[in-house]
Amino acid sequence: MARGRLGNSCRVSSMDEVIRVEDLRKTYLMGEYELEVLRGIDLAVKKGDTLSIMGPSGSGKSTLIQIMGCLDIPTSGKLYIDGVDTSTMNSDQLAAIRSKKIGFVFQFFYLIPTLSSQDNVELPMVFNGLSHEERHKKAYELLELVGLAERADHRPSELSGGERQRVAIARALANDPQIIFADEPTGNLDSKSGQEIVHLLMKLNTKGYTIIMVSHDFEIARHARRIIYVKDGLIEKTEVVK
Ligand SMILES: Nc1ncnc2c1ncn2[C@@H]1O[C@H](COP(=O)(O)OP(=O)(O)OP(=O)(O)O)[C@@H](O)[C@H]1O
Ligand SMILES: [Mg+2]
Repeated sequence: MARGRLGNSCRVSSMDEVIRVEDLRKTYLMGEYELEVLRGIDLAVKKGDTLSIMGPSGSGKSTLIQIMGCLDIPTSGKLYIDGVDTSTMNSDQLAAIRSKKIGFVFQFFYLIPTLSSQDNVELPMVFNGLSHEERHKKAYELLELVGLAERADHRPSELSGGERQRVAIARALANDPQIIFADEPTGNLDSKSGQEIVHLLMKLNTKGYTIIMVSHDFEIARHARRIIYVKDGLIEKTEVVK
């Protein structure tokens, strides 16, 4: 049983699954009518695996990844993170899971424009109990990991798009997550920078991080071991790439 700060939630999914969703649904109430965005998604992702999510615009990919990453909650269905059922968790418990286990990377980076790369990466560490020196050292090591140590003092406006995304990836790693969710991480980059970013994500996978990414581009998506195709809120098909 999982206890401690996540409460008495039952462990029922397999231990080697870092994510499991069962009959996941999301419906938005739009005035008079209901918009069914996710209509029953079943999916399991093992620890250390890589998964890409493809599908047409509006099919529900971002909604799905945001629910799996505890940024949003489903209307119904189950989400297990690391074997723990999240469905009865309150917002504080979900926030604890998010800060301990999950890192997010977005298409538009969302770096703080007035802060250096170093300070952007340090920011999520502020509440994790590390001293200033420890935070500084760790952020610098993460910038080294993403190949950007020599840009530590640059602000976002002094970086290329690919470099900004590297900083955002380093920031996503700040609190040692198990899972990296990336929603179109290359969507705002040229194809060369995009390839470099997906190679970085796959390098992180070899270090043990589970990678779940959304992409419109098969040349990006194919780097994952498995691709799911979402259409009209359902998984239309699954392709095992390698
Ligand atoms: N907060 C919301 N309220 C109402 N409808 C929403 C909300 N968020 C998303 N939607 C709708 O849900 C549907 C799925 O949106 P979602 O962002 O998950 O699509 P997507 O597959 O990520 O698309 P894209 O490839 O364009 O990013 C869309 O029709 C969108 O308009
Ligand atoms: Mg989207």
